[in-house]
Amino acid sequence: MGETQVYYFDNAATSWPKPEAVYRAVDRALRTGGSPGRSGHQRTLAAERQLYEAREKVASFFGVSKPSSLIFTLNATDALNMAIKGLLKKGDHVLTTPCEYNSVARPLNAMARDGLITVTEIPCTGQGTLDVTGLSSLFLPHTALVIATHASNVTGQLMPVEELGAAARARQVPFLLDAAQTAGVYPLSLKTLQADMVVFSGHKGPLGPQGVGGLILEEGLALRPWREGGTGSRSHEVLQPQVMPDYLEAGTMNMPGIAGLQAGIDYIESVGLDSIRFHEVRLASKLREGLKKIPGTRVYGPADPEEGVAVVSFTLDGLDCGDVGFILEEVHGILCRTGLHCAPGAHRCLGTFPQGTVRLSPGFSTTEEDVDYLLEAVAEIAFEAGLG
Ligand SMILES: Cc1ncc(COP(=O)(O)O)c(C=O)c1O
Repeated sequence: MGETQVYYFDNAATSWPKPEAVYRAVDRALRTGGSPGRSGHQRTLAAERQLYEAREKVASFFGVSKPSSLIFTLNATDALNMAIKGLLKKGDHVLTTPCEYNSVARPLNAMARDGLITVTEIPCTGQGTLDVTGLSSLFLPHTALVIATHASNVTGQLMPVEELGAAARARQVPFLLDAAQTAGVYPLSLKTLQADMVVFSGHKGPLGPQGVGGLILEEGLALRPWREGGTGSRSHEVLQPQVMPDYLEAGTMNMPGIAGLQAGIDYIESVGLDSIRFHEVRLASKLREGLKKIPGTRVYGPADPEEGVAVVSFTLDGLDCGDVGFILEEVHGILCRTGLHCAPGAHRCLGTFPQGTVRLSPGFSTTEEDVDYLLEAVAEIAFEAGLG
């Protein structure tokens, strides 16, 4: 973006800037070279060690005792496809929510269209959370998977996923948690969540570079591989080696991405996830309260910021969201996301379909002054539009 100062409020899409150590780790991995598992020369061995350490670090960050349960993927979308298409078979029924990101909704819709599966959505409330009162009655004898987002990428609302996890576990149905919006910014305990599979983006809360994500699998849960190919192991075997993580990790690993992700998590651990969470909740609260005072604004999402992650959506009466985003960037240098945010179902719940919302997502390096600046900019837009 050249010399112009920008105010980045789009961390829910991808976090930026990254900690300096992340840039350095990516650079170092590129300069080291070597592809883990391929041949035995010194570069390969160095890369192999890096991969091993990164897997241990990321697994332990998410409270996973067995590092081989962590599969590195391209992003959360890749991991979600891996889980959904690797687990479901013809005739299965899936229980999910209307607030899912398209990386859950589209694979499910495509499988339903092809007559492979049926899907039921847990009802949502007008505030964009789930109504789980009739949850038991939504399970069918052939329910094979429950999928839910941990937090809405439109409003930041944390979903009642512990209840979903408990209900699924009581029926021995696997529970797939989409933690794309919570990983790295909200404490995740796989035990209390009772999730069998957890998906995360490496490039959002965990502060890694783009092109990396992960799938964490409960031991013993069998998936068909979503991609098959070279693993550098058991090359004489004609089928994908059954050993984890190779079983689900075919192809050359994204070493710069994985090294950057490891550095991102190191950074979070050095600052403390609780401090990041505290900071972001405070900013989200300030944003929410400030926006509400501006005439003509409607703010969506949890009234109590503790019930969400730092994602705030709003609209300005009579103004197109795209126009508001355009003015925010062109006049004020503020970068945010506008529209449906790849989650049309969430907007149907909120009553903001099809126009969408303006979404603001501060991050670990956003300051109170940045939020004051943003609020002044929105107030100016509202005033100029005759709302004030
Ligand atoms: C809730 C949710 N799930 C999945 C994704 C997809 O993540 P990725 O872009 O890493 O594939 C996103 C991205 O914004 C998201 O917010």
